[in-house]
Amino acid sequence: MADATALGMPSVRTPRAPQRIGQSYHIRTFGCQMNEHDSERIGGLLTADGMVATPTLEEADVVVLNTCTIRENADNKLYGFLGALRAVKNRRPGMKILVGGCSAQKDGDLVMERARWVDAVFGTHNVHRVVDLLDHVDEWGPVTEIWEETTSTDDFPSYLPAQRETPHSAWVTIAIGCDNSCTFCIVPTVRGREISRRVGDVIGEVRSLAADGVTEITLLGQNVNSYGRDLELNGRRPVFADLLRQVGAVEGIRRVRYTSPHPKDFKEDVALAMAKTKSVCEQLHLPLQSGSDRILAAMHRGYNASRFLSRLEMARDIVPNLAVSTDIIVGFPGETEDDFAATMDVVAAARFDQAFTFQYSPRPGTPAATMGGQIPKEIVQDRFDRLVTLQNQISLEKNEAAVGGVEEVLVEGPSKKDPTVMTARTRGNKPVHAPGRYEPGTYLRAEITQAAPHHLLGRVIS
Ligand code: SAH
Ligand code: SF4
Ligand code: F3S
Repeated sequence: MADATALGMPSVRTPRAPQRIGQSYHIRTFGCQMNEHDSERIGGLLTADGMVATPTLEEADVVVLNTCTIRENADNKLYGFLGALRAVKNRRPGMKILVGGCSAQKDGDLVMERARWVDAVFGTHNVHRVVDLLDHVDEWGPVTEIWEETTSTDDFPSYLPAQRETPHSAWVTIAIGCDNSCTFCIVPTVRGREISRRVGDVIGEVRSLAADGVTEITLLGQNVNSYGRDLELNGRRPVFADLLRQVGAVEGIRRVRYTSPHPKDFKEDVALAMAKTKSVCEQLHLPLQSGSDRILAAMHRGYNASRFLSRLEMARDIVPNLAVSTDIIVGFPGETEDDFAATMDVVAAARFDQAFTFQYSPRPGTPAATMGGQIPKEIVQDRFDRLVTLQNQISLEKNEAAVGGVEEVLVEGPSKKDPTVMTARTRGNKPVHAPGRYEPGTYLRAEITQAAPHHLLGRVIS
């Protein structure tokens, strides 16, 4: 068998002897799955240093906030949270507060200027440095460390030890960063340029997760369809469709999901790979953003409404029973009532199962933040409400169509509201609540008995 280096695996770091034995940590994660994934690595590093996770923030020796800055309210959440933490730290001066993630990357020194009680600030490219930074705090005092780029693939959080939350499901990063330039979006600024992981590394990680009992994998990248543009394997660039097939073929993996594809790059080859690979779920998250061609151009999205709809139709033709979700921004600068009507028309035509709807939030440093025609809050709110009403109706109709059918569901655990009811997920990624207590990670068959816009009710039949 080829050795690890020949497979392109990164060299394994020699872990140091644990030094914080018995100390406790608490991680609070904001934002998207990338942050969830990184938090699992931060937890893994702290655990490897001898620490234990505690669910109670007030008791923790080390508190880590992994932050998001996608919209202004995400930033506000961080500083609100830090404000509340000040009192906790006053009571327990030995507590260390660390701030990482996308707001940290954006704000850098500003974090400590606004909250002097923070001990360390680290950026999105410095996740692997978290224990070194704690050492620095102990020895020298507060520190801010923000790198501009991830320069070595060895520094990908994927190669760090992980403290995973769910034993049966795992996120696997296929690429970090983003090379697109959507004019509203701060992600390229805070996550850097796109770097793909080698196919062998991704498959190696999926295999070892499967050996660990994981049966559900979600592949992560800001634009999964551009996967491999920076790679070469035997003189050829690997493409996402091939990767999907290979991940889907790993023994023990029963469900594969991925997020997000980009409508401009989503082609037939990926839909065919989905249809032909049994373990790849019939689920697609295709972010529309707007239904107006004028606004899509100003957003720099690289497609128009009719191309979006034809790609969606292609995907639905190729993948039977495809559940589709989307992201939509309301109130982008210059959005007129006609532009918004175009979004409503596309939403009515697309009949998404679910839509994540956002009010446009100017992000300093992005091109859209300084565009003319910023829309007053009341107008945005009114359009937003109309869009949510329309989508809720469509989501309900879509879910009602599932009533009477039988779905394979994967148990997540007891429902948050009622411990005698369990929550599970269909292959289409819809939550199903059904009476009974079942082990998380179990696959069951459930008859769908009732529908609501955002969940289904069911009854386990086997
Ligand atoms: N790479 C992913 C998106 C990540 S951000 C993709 O392209 O699908 C998740 C969503 O946040 C985006 O799809 C967009 O709908 C929303 N978003 C991003 N920037 C925003 C902003 N400035 N204001 C409001 N919503 C925004
Ligand atoms: Fe942001 Fe666009 Fe990149 Fe998605 S594809 S992360 S919306 S710049
Ligand atoms: Fe994700 Fe928020 Fe960063 S959406 S990439 S955590 S800005």
